[in-house]
Amino acid sequence: MQKNTGLIFAADLENGRRAINITNEISDLIDAVKVNYPIILSNGLQIVEELSRTKTVIADLKIADVPHINRKICRNVFEAGASAVICHGFTGKNSIEACIETANQMYGDVYVVAEMSHPDAERFIHHASKEIINIASQLGADGLIAPANDPKRLQKVRKQSKNMRILSPGVGVQGGGAKTAIQAGADQIIVGRSIYDHREPRQAAEKIVQDIGYTNP
Ligand code: XMP
Repeated sequence: MQKNTGLIFAADLENGRRAINITNEISDLIDAVKVNYPIILSNGLQIVEELSRTKTVIADLKIADVPHINRKICRNVFEAGASAVICHGFTGKNSIEACIETANQMYGDVYVVAEMSHPDAERFIHHASKEIINIASQLGADGLIAPANDPKRLQKVRKQSKNMRILSPGVGVQGGGAKTAIQAGADQIIVGRSIYDHREPRQAAEKIVQDIGYTNP
């Protein structure tokens, strides 16, 4: 996935038409559009194909199953037009590897969840993040997901992951700042509600891109 503005739009809308309209409206301001269960369950996998006509699509299904099922999930979303998937890392080497092998066959990317941004995330996944990062790195994952709303932890992930790409959700409603997250080591910022719930989504996206500071739209 290209890194241009540094902004990834999380299109967590059940209304597929609205997701497409906003993506079109801000397409020059974003590097990719990320889809999750809400939009796919409401609109079918066809929404991936439709969005992929405008923008690179990341399928954030947080894939976390046994290897042969992970392969099937990845194959389906890549065939639908996704360029990247997000998988969980806590499932261990074989499950991550299944995603990476399938992605390699289909010219796609895999990003592995190293940490999460919500309250209570520290209870389980944070204890395992160092190992998850090591496994993801050894297997040749394209990057990691780590929270923008906890700059100290993000810095730690940055240090451990060396030069792996980091995509960071948690900006806006979850309390994180785009600039702070970039300074803490994120490469690209994932934002949903602060864009699609804003009365002027383009204005909101422009502001975030300015904060990220890679380009001047
Ligand atoms: P908002 O509306 O909060 O949406 O900007 C955030 C988007 O990012 C996803 N998300 C995460 N994904 N680890 C992840 O892998 C996280 O810690 C995390 N926090 C938020 C969420 O699914 C939504 O699409």
